[in-house]
Amino acid sequence: MKDLLIVANWKSNKSQQEADLWIANINLDTLDANKKVVICPPFTLLSAFSQHFPVEKLGAQNISPFSAGAYTGEVNALQVKEFAAYVLIGHSERRQYFKEDDEIIQEKVMQAKSAMVIPIVCVQGVDTPIPQGVDIVAYEPIWAIGTGKAESPIEANEVCRQIFHKTHVKTVLYGGSVTEENVHTFTELEYIGGVLVGGASLDPQKFSQIIAHA
Ligand code: PGA
Repeated sequence: MKDLLIVANWKSNKSQQEADLWIANINLDTLDANKKVVICPPFTLLSAFSQHFPVEKLGAQNISPFSAGAYTGEVNALQVKEFAAYVLIGHSERRQYFKEDDEIIQEKVMQAKSAMVIPIVCVQGVDTPIPQGVDIVAYEPIWAIGTGKAESPIEANEVCRQIFHKTHVKTVLYGGSVTEENVHTFTELEYIGGVLVGGASLDPQKFSQIIAHA
């Protein structure tokens, strides 16, 4: 059985109390040996999550393109590293709403790598540049994000195949309207190494089923 990486991206959702409820209703202790789960809550919840989960199961959703210093509002790579082993970089929402370009994404990857936080770089297709030294990418067609309309698994697998062959990456995830019903149709295909789950990861029952059915 191939290894699978299942990543939850909570985006800008949940209070401390809601997160406590989620944590009380999820069980990540008995995972199949081939499955690895990473939860990316907002920064405000990372500390609380770290009371319940090891650093290897946690990720941040963003990272500063700078190291420590006078950068109001930013969270730097060494601060992330205290709580999380992974970081999402270049999500299409960051590119769209926060005008992040390939240069900033490259800086963020460099910061993450220098602190030994593992970057998961989100790409929108085969043409999105992937900075050197990135091992994990998530292919997410923009129109499939949060719309309930996932890409066809065959097409997603083909894009993942092309990314895999064209670049140095080791793992390509698919993201975009992944659910407990469709997750296996992606993860059973050769070039899809796991999934990045947004909306469906907010519900502990749904996310548990996604993990079980992947
Ligand atoms: P979605 O989001 O699962 O809600 O489509 C995925 C993502 O944006 O990472």
